[in-house]
Amino acid sequence: MTALELEALFGSLSRLPDVDADNLQAYDATDRILLETAADMMGADTEVVIIGDRYGALTLGALAGLGVGHVRVHQDLFTGRLALERNAAAAGLEGRFTQHELGPELLGEAELVLVQLPKSLAGLEEISDAVARFAAPEAVVLAGGRVKHMSTGMNAVLEKSFSSVQPQLARQKSRVLIARDPRKVPDAPPYPVVEPLQELGITVCARGAVFSGARLDIGTRFLLTFLDRIPAAGHVMDLGCGTGILATMYARRHEGSKVVATDQSAAAVASARGTVAANGVGERVTVIHDDAMSTLEPGSADLILLNPPFHVGTSVHAGAALKMFQAAARVLAPGGELWTVYNSHLQYRSALERLIGPSSEEGRNPKFTVTRSIKS
Ligand SMILES: C[S@@+](CC[C@H](N)C(=O)[O-])C[C@H]1O[C@@H](n2cnc3c(N)ncnc32)[C@H](O)[C@@H]1O
Repeated sequence: MTALELEALFGSLSRLPDVDADNLQAYDATDRILLETAADMMGADTEVVIIGDRYGALTLGALAGLGVGHVRVHQDLFTGRLALERNAAAAGLEGRFTQHELGPELLGEAELVLVQLPKSLAGLEEISDAVARFAAPEAVVLAGGRVKHMSTGMNAVLEKSFSSVQPQLARQKSRVLIARDPRKVPDAPPYPVVEPLQELGITVCARGAVFSGARLDIGTRFLLTFLDRIPAAGHVMDLGCGTGILATMYARRHEGSKVVATDQSAAAVASARGTVAANGVGERVTVIHDDAMSTLEPGSADLILLNPPFHVGTSVHAGAALKMFQAAARVLAPGGELWTVYNSHLQYRSALERLIGPSSEEGRNPKFTVTRSIKS
């Protein structure tokens, strides 16, 4: 595949069903540079694994340009998985990749692992440990990102699992780190972390890439101070559940409720499953990997708890929270309630009034506002 053909493939990619906007792209220079670096390392039948592909640029670029027949893929985001499938179908490359969770199925015998660097060091630590643990001993990792989002902490994390970590020269504002020679891994993998959260009297389970790790987010802490006032309801959603703290706390308080915790992140889903099980509410809390409750019936929830995301990937974009409000409007039954917490400067109240219905401010501290919206 020529450079021009690769650019044409990139240009055809769509971010949908993720938030789409003119200032948000479906690929970046990191994808291009990772593929170019990989092309120089390919032998006959090299086993290629792709981790962290956003919308398919790496997977489809590898299939079309590196001469591989099939690749194994791990994407954390549900939206990324759907986007890859859609883009693969559009490019006629469907059926040539399989999706796996981080583990031996994904990485067994892998020789070349292409990674779009995750946002958090903990996310990278889990990936790096998994590659060292399960891939072939001669495996090479190419981990790339935008220079402005990279830190030397990333090299240090890779060095925990690999003896050789070589940063390459930055090009087009992206840089690739090449890691080789996996070290002997400790018997127990570093993730999930399972820790008591004493202030709430629960145990939290956290995979590397999950929001806030095993700690309590300060917005969530504020929302939980309203737990006594949040009504008992039959069908309850913890939307964007992260480690599942809201679902767990609600289920412990209301034994008659059925709770669904859902998140677009596979790391969040695995974490929340661990958290609800560790706190004895696994029978009453179902955890679903989904994008903004897309697989749930309209009008099927009486109550939704939400601490919405502020960032889309590494850019700040209100679209992610508005998408959650729209989803809540669809899934709430008439008279159902959305309780949400957000940074007060975001002033979401008018959007909540417009999308859901009458919305009251239930409380405010120096940083956050909690609102209750009733579906009209
Ligand atoms: C601010 S965090 C809150 C996490 C958790 N509820 C807590 O209180 O710690 C927002 C969460 O929403 C998830 N999220 C963002 N967009 C989403 C979407 N479209 N569908 C489902 N979950 C989403 C993120 O993965 C993240 O876990």
